[in-house]
Amino acid sequence: MNTLTIADKRLTYLRTGSGAPLVLVHGFPLDHSIWEPVVPFLTDDFDLILPDLPGFGGSDSPGPDPDIETYAHALADLLSALGLTQAFLAGHSMGGYVALAFARLYPSRLRGLALVASQPLADTPERKSGRYETAAQVALHGAGVVAEAMVPKLSADPAHGPILNELILRQRPEGIIGGLRAMAGRPDSSSLLASLTVPLVLIHGQADALIPVERAREAAQSTPHAVLVELPAVGHMPMMESPEKTAAALKLLIGA
Ligand code: MLT
Repeated sequence: MNTLTIADKRLTYLRTGSGAPLVLVHGFPLDHSIWEPVVPFLTDDFDLILPDLPGFGGSDSPGPDPDIETYAHALADLLSALGLTQAFLAGHSMGGYVALAFARLYPSRLRGLALVASQPLADTPERKSGRYETAAQVALHGAGVVAEAMVPKLSADPAHGPILNELILRQRPEGIIGGLRAMAGRPDSSSLLASLTVPLVLIHGQADALIPVERAREAAQSTPHAVLVELPAVGHMPMMESPEKTAAALKLLIGA
């Protein structure tokens, strides 16, 4: 892992491969390691950058009340520190919400976007209040609350359960709470997505129990130039459940 310190905050990331810069942004409440299974399939085509979002993995917390833009700014700062003016972004779930915020804030720095098990919609009022309730529970009881609720819904392959459980339990409560609050406050990005002119790929498991595949189909319908890749029998973790096909879909960003 590499570490950069930006504005007194440590940001950890992995960098490997050569080619077009592609940032793989993990979802909630995980870290860069979820992407490791796809790395061997992508290193010939991409300069891969796998950050830990602020508050997750080895990266310092972003401060008391981050919004989704906070994480997008951190990605922009990371790219600048690496001397990259532009990059492709692939965002998994919450990482997709961050990538959409990046697209809104830094349109000229985005070469292409993949949403992996993600969606452009904002939270419903019920989902929002559920997130605040979960944040309160995590403050009281720690990461176990989220692990218990999420692990059974993450991967369609039960073999991933223990790995994901351990990964969530390693995350710090303040990072989890920050992520929950940021997701709750994120804006709807449907029209933003439809307005993007860069290459767009939507990758979604047909057995996703957290964000149903219908969300990706709807996004594809209102974004005609997006390519939708559906993965049969795959849940919310395509990069772990079907790494080769996920990597092949990511290569569509560069027409490979
Ligand atoms: C994620 O996997 O990043 C989150 O579950 C997404 C969400 O809760 O909306």
